[in-house]
Amino acid sequence: MGIAEQLPSASLGAPTSAPQGGGHQTVCVDTGRERYDILIGSGLLAEPQAWTGLPKASRAVVVSNETIAPLWAERLVQALRPHYPQVTVLNLPDGEAHKDWPALNSIFNHLLEHTADRKTMLFALGGGVVGDITGFAAGCYMRGVPFVQVPTTLLAQVDSSVGGKTAINHPLGKNMIGLFYQPKRVVCDLDTLNTLPQREFIAGLAEVIKYGPIADEGFLGWIEDHLDALLARDTGALTHAIRRSCEIKAEVVGQDEKEGGLRAILNFGHTFGHAIESGLGYGQWLHGEAVGCGMRMATDLSVRLGLVPPATLQRMHTLLVRAGLPVRAPDLGGDVYLDWMGRDKKAEAGDIRFVVLESMGRAVVRKAPEAVVRGVLTSAVQVSAAP
Ligand code: NAD
Ligand code: GLY
Repeated sequence: MGIAEQLPSASLGAPTSAPQGGGHQTVCVDTGRERYDILIGSGLLAEPQAWTGLPKASRAVVVSNETIAPLWAERLVQALRPHYPQVTVLNLPDGEAHKDWPALNSIFNHLLEHTADRKTMLFALGGGVVGDITGFAAGCYMRGVPFVQVPTTLLAQVDSSVGGKTAINHPLGKNMIGLFYQPKRVVCDLDTLNTLPQREFIAGLAEVIKYGPIADEGFLGWIEDHLDALLARDTGALTHAIRRSCEIKAEVVGQDEKEGGLRAILNFGHTFGHAIESGLGYGQWLHGEAVGCGMRMATDLSVRLGLVPPATLQRMHTLLVRAGLPVRAPDLGGDVYLDWMGRDKKAEAGDIRFVVLESMGRAVVRKAPEAVVRGVLTSAVQVSAAP
């Protein structure tokens, strides 16, 4: 049985009509051990209701970065003041290259210098980099302090802020040092996306698109139909895309918090994508761009394994090109790709394992013969970017 078959179709195949009216949407994550809400809406940073009911503490620390804090930190600090007598802001340097030990240590330095106790609340205001490193710091400081994710990129709102994966990078591999550590809440303020550069926004769309092929073909069709509205950042379309993405992720994480099996489907495109990111050096391609190209490669692999027809690859290719995501892989050489992919966290005893499509809307994890993978790699560097 494919692992996606363990997902109840009633939840993952739910209708994909856009929500009506104002207010915010709520999606609940329940891992059995932890339960928390994802709030989705416009203006949530300044919305008192978004910050009530969190654990009490004498201190809150907002961890952000030098790009995001000038845009959005003051709004969050004002919203937190009624709840926390002391609120400080720590700005990390911006960029994937700083998801590292020195940046992590600077969070610990800030907490210790401000005599933060074990009830101190951390608020991760930023994209996936800030969210991942702040979550990791929260999980380690005094053996664990509570934290809230306040994601400000599309990628973070639909993926990285949800599910409790926290990490920093190691020179020998991405996200290799980390913890599963769940936030107390996720607050997705759509307004923060207004300042997001279009390249970053499109990279985030890759993670939205991902949920279609792995879990919900109906959602994929909805994305195809509403791509122009999404690219124009239409609030209704975005709210629906973020909510449906979070619903699917919450369902998967609820069944398999620590990636014993099912959760691996969320890594569709990531084995190839991480190799692109690592092989080029962090920061050359954005994570979402690498995942977009990687999803095309994983779909090609699915075709070559005889799991899906070539039309499935054409459908993915067309959507990725329409979204403005790269489809031609960088020519790193097959050996370099295989070397990086061998370090993937899904690898077992040296065998690379790939998330592939068993059908559109259903993903499974498979090993693949090296010759077949090499065929994908050879073809991927020659792909035309025409739809
Ligand atoms: P990012 O955090 O680097 O943010 C992208 C850029 O946009 C940065 O320069 C940032 O400063 C800027 N930015 C963020 N919000 C902004 C805003 N509202 N206005 C203007 N600029 C803004 O990148 P990302 O794509 O959000 O996240 C990528 C990271 O997430 C990677 O490290 C990846 O490994 C990680 N990730 C983690 C998970 C998980 O489950 N934990 C899932 C997917 C990705
Ligand atoms: N982004 C993959 C996961 O959360 O498992």
